[in-house]
Amino acid sequence: MSERTLVLVKPDGVRRGVVGEVVSRIERKGLKLVALELRTLPRETAEAHYGEHSSKPFFGELVDFITGGPLVAMVVEGPRAIEAFRALAGATDPVKATPGTVRGDFALEIGENIVHGSDSTDSAAREIKLFFPELG
Ligand code: TYD
Ligand code: MG
Repeated sequence: MSERTLVLVKPDGVRRGVVGEVVSRIERKGLKLVALELRTLPRETAEAHYGEHSSKPFFGELVDFITGGPLVAMVVEGPRAIEAFRALAGATDPVKATPGTVRGDFALEIGENIVHGSDSTDSAAREIKLFFPELG
């Protein structure tokens, strides 16, 4: 059984030049790319994407950050793709993320942790619809 997840290489990852590295790790794992696009998010899309965090103190900075430059949005598919990509990404706090994960290898600050991956089948469906409505 295959499932899909939304993956972002956030603007810090694009600036740092690790898009190829992240795509390479996804492909090495055996996950498949279904869609991939470089784009700069409008504020409304960023606010919708991170809607679950709208009441958090870091929300404003998070939206500023994610809209602050181009990002790479992807839809990735495979068996347990949601969990598989979250394992490749590592913990949200990059200092706690295990070395060998994307965040463990390339980041130091929680607000600039290189990648996003959907955290459940519900959020994957919602996020894929938001970023790639044509895949619906
Ligand atoms: P969250 O959904 O908790 O993490 P994840 O990206 O691992 O699913 O948070 C979303 C993003 O918000 C996170 O990647 C980085 C940012 N963030 C902060 O800037 N400060 C924080 O304290 C937290 C928890 C998250
Ligand atoms: Mg999350």
